[in-house]
Amino acid sequence: MHLDLDADGPQYLQLSRAIRSAVQQGRLASGTRLPPTRELAQTLGLARNTVRAAYEHLGAQGLVEGRVGAGSYVHANGRDSAPANGAPALALLPGATPAPSAYARRARELLREFPAWRRHLGVRYSLQYGEPFADALLPEQWRNALARAALYTPMGYPAMAGVPALREQVCKYLRSRRAVDASPDQVLIVAGTQQALALAARVLLDEGDTAVVEDPGYFSARHTFLAHGARLVGVPVDKSGLVVDELPERRPGLVFVTPSHQFPLGAVMSQRRRQELLRYAARHDTWIVEDDYDAEIRYDSRQVAALKAMDRQDRVIFVGSFSKVLAPSIRLAYMVLPAALREDFVTAKRLMDMGCPAIEQAALAHFMETGAFERHLRRVVRALRARRNALFSAMQQHGADWLELHDSHAGMHVVGRLKGRVATRQAELIEAARLRGVGVYTLAQHYIRPPAQPGLLFGFAALSPSEIEVAARQLGRAASEL
Ligand SMILES: Cc1ncc(COP(=O)(O)O)c(C=O)c1O
Repeated sequence: MHLDLDADGPQYLQLSRAIRSAVQQGRLASGTRLPPTRELAQTLGLARNTVRAAYEHLGAQGLVEGRVGAGSYVHANGRDSAPANGAPALALLPGATPAPSAYARRARELLREFPAWRRHLGVRYSLQYGEPFADALLPEQWRNALARAALYTPMGYPAMAGVPALREQVCKYLRSRRAVDASPDQVLIVAGTQQALALAARVLLDEGDTAVVEDPGYFSARHTFLAHGARLVGVPVDKSGLVVDELPERRPGLVFVTPSHQFPLGAVMSQRRRQELLRYAARHDTWIVEDDYDAEIRYDSRQVAALKAMDRQDRVIFVGSFSKVLAPSIRLAYMVLPAALREDFVTAKRLMDMGCPAIEQAALAHFMETGAFERHLRRVVRALRARRNALFSAMQQHGADWLELHDSHAGMHVVGRLKGRVATRQAELIEAARLRGVGVYTLAQHYIRPPAQPGLLFGFAALSPSEIEVAARQLGRAASEL
């Protein structure tokens, strides 16, 4: 089998693309057995883990099927296989028209490579990360806040950087909860962290520039920078957070980090690493994007301040979101910008959407000002603590011999490493769990270089403690029947 790797991005994705293209061109027919991972690794001069990750990646897309003890087989389902009449296989792909731009081409590629997020929609017990906690009181409170705000909010275009009352509340909140001393004119209200990332890409990166990301790290940041045309450099993380010594010598356009609660592994970045990272940014004249997505949700008494709180050289772009502490549907987040970048970001925001909806911003400002937001936050943390405890005790009961959960005492997700026999059969476990109505997800999709030990990422916010118990029991059964 001849496979051409295109030297673009992580090796396992290069290999996955090469195999997919061999299937599309009819060089690999449905039912063909793929070479054993060891053999293909030797032939191509790759690590065996890389080949394994490529097979898993293709498995997640339904293009390769593993059969117990019998290897991996091509499972072309007509959409990806070469048509019998010899017409170009690509014509059968979604979006078969040529991509209208380099951005569209890269975005299509990402969509093709990561359909796995949506795979388990519809399962009864979804432990998908990102599913929110549904607070019973919030809908009515939010409706009242919106109705009130609609009455007094001017109907003209909103202030581009955000409604002043909300920027003021954000500053108060940051001072008390995150030790960040910002003034309202440093704050830009944006439509979620996602928009902050898109703006950062536009303002800070030209095509081909380097964006440094944590490996493993937040997939959406990676995708945003890739779609923009950046070159990604993944830097490993350990128990102290980003391994700063491994940052590239050449100046990157930006460094994206989650210092308060590393996503997905959970480390808090140590004080030493924080100092080193700030020094690196100053020395290389680059920018740090600090994603503080869930720092308020902690279950121990540890106070973790933001990296921005130590930023004497004004190198950190701080991003906080209301997605975890309120609801992702609200699509509001905020940035604290270095003085040198403020105008550029506000202009980019103007060009993108002319500002976030004013009524929502005013409603949120009022919600914060009256203390309703703080009360909501305390309720959320109490409820999440119960869910997290339920997950730990249920997995102790139903998964102690095949799963090791890592506790980061924070956030809405937990990482678990697979042990023993189950560690070699992760894809089968995920499928068996799905058949039992439980959605669990591989940690591998958050890595650029495949992880040495397979693992799962459990999002526990959306299920009640009793649902979590049922899900864990079903998952335990799925594992024991492998
Ligand atoms: C690491 C990380 N950052 C940020 C967010 C929030 O993104 P947004 O504000 O766009 O909803 C999430 C949500 O899942 C996340 O996991």
